[in-house]
Amino acid sequence: MSRAALYDEVGGPQVLYIGQVPDRDPGAGEVAVRVRAAGVNPYDAKARSGFIPLEAPFPRRIGADLAGTVEAVGEGAEYADGTAVQVGDEVAGRGHGALADRVIASADGLTRRPAGVPVEVAAGLNVPGLTAVSCLATVPVGEGDTVLVGGASGAVGLVAAQLARDAGARVIGTASPRHHDFVRSLGAEPVAYGDGLADRVAALGMPTAIMDCHGRDALDAGVTLGVPTDRMVAIAAYAALKEIPAHNVERSARTAANLRTLLEKIEAGDLVFPVAQTFPLEDIVDAFAAVESSHDPGKIIVTM
Ligand SMILES: NC(=O)c1ccc[n+]([C@@H]2O[C@H](COP(=O)([O-])OP(=O)(O)OC[C@H]3O[C@@H](n4cnc5c(N)ncnc54)[C@H](OP(=O)(O)O)[C@@H]3O)[C@@H](O)[C@H]2O)c1
Repeated sequence: MSRAALYDEVGGPQVLYIGQVPDRDPGAGEVAVRVRAAGVNPYDAKARSGFIPLEAPFPRRIGADLAGTVEAVGEGAEYADGTAVQVGDEVAGRGHGALADRVIASADGLTRRPAGVPVEVAAGLNVPGLTAVSCLATVPVGEGDTVLVGGASGAVGLVAAQLARDAGARVIGTASPRHHDFVRSLGAEPVAYGDGLADRVAALGMPTAIMDCHGRDALDAGVTLGVPTDRMVAIAAYAALKEIPAHNVERSARTAANLRTLLEKIEAGDLVFPVAQTFPLEDIVDAFAAVESSHDPGKIIVTM
């Protein structure tokens, strides 16, 4: 048996508890990972609260992003690059129910963790990092572009801002004023979100592309400023995309190979991916409460 974060009903963070779940051996193409750290995503909170309805029976496990050590390898389990997974490999990537001591994961959603990337940093990268890569795959930018990134102090937005910067674009990023120095440190120009956003952005420069990594206000600013809708992408603009024919973020870039590339950039010092706060697994309720309230830039990480 292993410990896992579970819930028996949808609701606030307090519905979460740590329970025992039976272990199983990995099947074909799967590996068992001894989880060392896992990221908590806003998606997990939306699933737990019922905002995103799930069909899965209760009790439900939770979490999707992990870093840990391979404990057992199923038949033919290979990384996406075709190399065999070995017991003892240090890995990072996708694993359903990641907020647990042990997870059965599909090998092709994992990649080896470079030695120079701390386990807590690697643990939270999968969903936000690959969503940011997907934003740039959906709306490519480069020299001559001015990109407005909504939520540039958030886990997705801070990666998107850096990738857009590296592509040669000028980046304007929204954040709370207390996070403006952080946004500046990414090489972006900060602007406060909220009423009057379009005017504040226009005072800095007219955007040619929008990456809304929070909700819809960057999209709305883009419409006001005449940015073509095919140069706008949103990741959480559920209702707005019914009114504004912008792109929903595409999924094809969510590969372990792209995750590995991001990890290598972090190891080389070319990409910043901060850990906002860490919690032990027993404090899972507090970890979710932190995700759902204003927090320092970066990821909320749970350690096992
Ligand atoms: N479609 C997908 O595949 C996908 C994938 C990943 C995430 N998402 C969604 O994308 C959103 C962001 O995820 P994340 O992991 O980056 O979250 P996060 O790390 O919590 O970041 C949230 C960001 O939103 C900003 N923000 C907070 N309140 C705001 C407001 N009222 N107006 C404008 N910006 C505001 C925050 O700025 P300050 O902290 O500076 O206030 C921060 O930059 C979540 O809704 C998540 O569910 C979607």
